[in-house]
Amino acid sequence: RIAGPCSMVIFGVTGDLARRKLMPAIYDLANRGLLPPSFSLVGFARRDWATEDFSQIVHDAVKAHARTPFREEAWRQLSEGFRFVQGTFDDDEAFARLAATLHDLDAQRGTDGNHAFYLSVPPDAFPVVCGQLKRSGLAAPDDGHWRRVVIEKPFGHDLDSARKLNAVVNSVFPEESVFRIDHYLGKETVQNILALRFANQLFDPLWSAHYIDHVQITMAEDIGLGGRAGYYDGIGAARDVIQNHLLQLLALVAMEEPVSFEPSQLQAEKIKVLSATRNILPLEDNSARGQYGPGWQGSEKVCGLLHEEGFSSTSTTETYAAIALEVDTRRWAGVPFYLRTGKRLGRRVTEIALVFKRAPHLPFDKTMTDELGQNALVIRVQPDEGVTLRFGSKVPGSSMEVRDVNMDFSYGQAFTESSPEAYERLILDVLLGEPSLFPVNDEVELSWEILDPVLDGWAAGGKPEEYESGTWGPHGADAMMARTGRVWRRP
Ligand code: BG6
Repeated sequence: RIAGPCSMVIFGVTGDLARRKLMPAIYDLANRGLLPPSFSLVGFARRDWATEDFSQIVHDAVKAHARTPFREEAWRQLSEGFRFVQGTFDDDEAFARLAATLHDLDAQRGTDGNHAFYLSVPPDAFPVVCGQLKRSGLAAPDDGHWRRVVIEKPFGHDLDSARKLNAVVNSVFPEESVFRIDHYLGKETVQNILALRFANQLFDPLWSAHYIDHVQITMAEDIGLGGRAGYYDGIGAARDVIQNHLLQLLALVAMEEPVSFEPSQLQAEKIKVLSATRNILPLEDNSARGQYGPGWQGSEKVCGLLHEEGFSSTSTTETYAAIALEVDTRRWAGVPFYLRTGKRLGRRVTEIALVFKRAPHLPFDKTMTDELGQNALVIRVQPDEGVTLRFGSKVPGSSMEVRDVNMDFSYGQAFTESSPEAYERLILDVLLGEPSLFPVNDEVELSWEILDPVLDGWAAGGKPEEYESGTWGPHGADAMMARTGRVWRRP
């Protein structure tokens, strides 16, 4: 579907996110013919830029990061709709200029009174920007038109601050006009969880406590935090990605089949499953955190977090977090869900592994099954997108030796179509007014309810354990699994 006439305003347009993700995604959408000819992009920032400077910045960002090839014709058409408004968030006149700019675009380019406001700014700026949009009359559309606001995480710091933030945003924009970005939901492999589960007969009978021993959701990154202290220090791994990305993955894996893919039906199922999700107690034994120390990342020698630019030598911000959850429903009772994430780990990989119970009986000579592990279905979210099924198979030869083998589906081999970047899909959905891939207020608050007790425990409990960069995290995380007789996968 192609978006109807509209414009998008980006606040914080000089930031890293705008340059690396938003501008390239908008160009790719235009290049694929998914934006209307009238589409206009307005940058709002403090910098003293003219529209030509803004256009040059977008041009450079597109050249560096766009997925689709550069086409002069697509660029020309898109860039004719660029405008730049200079100002600070507390400047009433700047917002009056913004309103006048949007008004002119409606008249000149036919954006038709439909405007999306992308707040690519820290959450403490949400109240003032929302307040200005209200004061300048920009938040309320005339009949038949729409205004939408797009916000980026962190959606608060804990449950209490999330509630306050939601109240501020909802006092200006009704919930149906609020689009919260969780870019994991824009990934093809994440959307495929629903296809895998609900388009097939094969998996559902196995998808429960009857056959599944436990679930591991891993988001490992090899990068460190050099240059990101401003955002990350005091936030840490759990708030950065467990509260949003990993709990959303859990919700998609554990939820029941929605009545339809109507947004409200999908949300209802996610909310149900998040409401039934609890920490496994005691928390000290069922969670782990760490902070990366020096080490080797491939052939590169890297420093520890406390020596990264912008972090103080006493920072207790965790760069690794693992938690253990259970989902109190008939389908999942007794099945632990282990969620872990970390920076500077062995390699970059995000995956969801459903690890099966062992066969109740193995009619083989014991020595013949030494190398047989547990069956597993692994959804490879990235970077090698696909699905793997691990099971035992006879090793060719005269003895009945059984060993693990993998059956693989790989996107690269199965499809010739290329996947749009997550932000492309999400920005298009904002312009289309399609809310399925955006978490609602209740999901955000339920996620904080799950995480808050863990964070409180950590806040009261000293420093995170140091782990060597390039390894798979702190010993505490291995000990947490070992207590249950399980081990983390080494993807
Ligand atoms: C962001 C986090 O949400 O996701 C970052 O704030 C993290 O810390 C990033 O690096 C990872 O995204 P992706 O798509 O590369 O897995």
